[in-house]
Amino acid sequence: MAMDSTALRHLHFVFIPLMAPGHLLPMVDMAKLMAQRQVKVSIVTTPLNSIQFQAGIDKEIRSGSSIQILNVQFPCEEVGLPEGCESLDTLPSMDLLNNFSIALDLLQQPLEELLEKQRPFPSCIIVDKYFLCVAEVANKLNVPIIIFDGTSCFCLLCTHNLQKDKVYEAVSAEEKFLIPRIPHRIELKKSQLPGIFNPGSDLTLKARREKVMEVAEKSYGIVVNSFEELEAEYVKEYQRFSGHKVWCVGPVSLSNRDDIDKSLRSRRNLSYGNEYVKWLDSWSPRSVIYVCLGSLNRAIPEQLIELGRGLEATKRPFIWVLRGAYGREEMEKWLLEDGFEERVKGRGLLIKGWAPQVLILSHTAIGVFVTHCGWNSTLEGICAGVPLVTFPLFAEQFLNEQLVVQVMKTGVSAGAESVVHLGEEHKSMVQVTRENVKDSIENVMGEGQEKKEIRERARKYADMARKAMEQGGSSYRNMSLLIDHIVHVKGLHN
Ligand SMILES: *[C@@H]1O[C@H](CO)[C@@H](O)[C@H](O)[C@H]1NC(C)=O
Ligand SMILES: *[C@@H]1O[C@H](CO)[C@@H](O)[C@H](O)[C@H]1NC(C)=O
Ligand SMILES: *[C@@H]1O[C@H](CO)[C@@H](O)[C@H](O)[C@H]1NC(C)=O
Ligand SMILES: *[C@@H]1O[C@H](CO)[C@@H](O)[C@H](O)[C@H]1NC(C)=O
Repeated sequence: MAMDSTALRHLHFVFIPLMAPGHLLPMVDMAKLMAQRQVKVSIVTTPLNSIQFQAGIDKEIRSGSSIQILNVQFPCEEVGLPEGCESLDTLPSMDLLNNFSIALDLLQQPLEELLEKQRPFPSCIIVDKYFLCVAEVANKLNVPIIIFDGTSCFCLLCTHNLQKDKVYEAVSAEEKFLIPRIPHRIELKKSQLPGIFNPGSDLTLKARREKVMEVAEKSYGIVVNSFEELEAEYVKEYQRFSGHKVWCVGPVSLSNRDDIDKSLRSRRNLSYGNEYVKWLDSWSPRSVIYVCLGSLNRAIPEQLIELGRGLEATKRPFIWVLRGAYGREEMEKWLLEDGFEERVKGRGLLIKGWAPQVLILSHTAIGVFVTHCGWNSTLEGICAGVPLVTFPLFAEQFLNEQLVVQVMKTGVSAGAESVVHLGEEHKSMVQVTRENVKDSIENVMGEGQEKKEIRERARKYADMARKAMEQGGSSYRNMSLLIDHIVHVKGLHN
């Protein structure tokens, strides 16, 4: 796969991530990996988002990569968002989601003007599937577009087949049904399906989702943060069913090789995260529970309180990341009044806000990851080689749970029953009791053959992930094939 270096010098890959931590960071990692292949790379985002990862990019530039950040101003004011609200996780309320989408649409013109000026002229745009107006930009500038899909091929295939077969239409919300035409026997309930299968949801949202599919249809392919060894059958089947090229180039978080990369990843402060590492150093290997239900947490305070009590009941050390988009104040009030923090003092560390997750997970003291199964977190858990306790909340997280529990068999379910739909948080109830929390954690951390096997499998997947990313590994080669593909599309190969 020796690529002509003259051809490479003419290539310019432009990455346009969606401004939400779970979407932005994997694309930044991917951009860094791409730039290490001697092609020019740009990441387009807004000033407040780029501050987050500027230091990491500077480090890449010092090591010889041709990579730059291009900023566009985010039109907060025009759409009625508070100033500085440039990322989905900083929305004061999910009611403003639509305003955020409108702001994204308004970026079409500025993006067009910005990209037009770039030299070499962009050869390919890699864009988050939810950043819709970029398809128009690419069309206008006549640049091939590749979609970044933030999920797994397992999830893509299940969703694709469900949309085709509509088996869920014939069942009631709580009835289980089999996901059609996939390599494993997976059962779900209708109430566990992502929002796209939730009839009666918001019409603008529905229109946007249809547009997402339309854009995907016209793209040159999909790039996925996953690796062949994790879900080979699903990669193959999804390509076959959808007719799209699929390049698995992950897990991209492994591009952050040392602790400096890991904490720089999204912080300016070099010593950030040190305090957690020190705290973890004081615990024995595989003894600490790490809990994070995601940056767009949608669990209600009552549910979080049960989770807290479950952690307390394990009597094990834990780190709990609390980021509440929903019911934040109520939760803070409980923490103050209940005395929880006092009771778990010494063995329970609460992080209120952003946490250097990759850094924490890679510490040998971590023994289990309690996760909402957002894809990026799931992968980070896989790379850390720890078993997962799955606690899905919304979107495709219940599908990811099935991948972990039924296909990989590297985790157990905490027992969540149904999706908490956007804007319907107040209607949801406690789904996972403190006993569920305690028992599921014991089921992967405790003694016994079955539990040991779960832990061993988790370690094996981490090895496979590492190998996939090494030179010659499957993800490394897929990245080369992607670059090759664009060389051919652009006619640069002769
Ligand atoms: C958000 O958008 C809606 C619909 O476009 C608009 O009516 C509303 O005023 C906007 N919100 C704010 C806070 O401006
Ligand atoms: C960096 O972070 C550490 C730990 O969070 C904090 O104590 C320190 O004050 C920060 N330093 C700067 C320069 O912001
Ligand atoms: C993944 O999401 C979690 C929260 O959901 C965040 O803390 C973490 O940094 C994200 N990682 C990536 C790769 O974006
Ligand atoms: C990615 O790599 C796998 C295994 O090396 C290969 O079978 C597959 O065709 C590659 N994908 C693309 C889109 O080239």
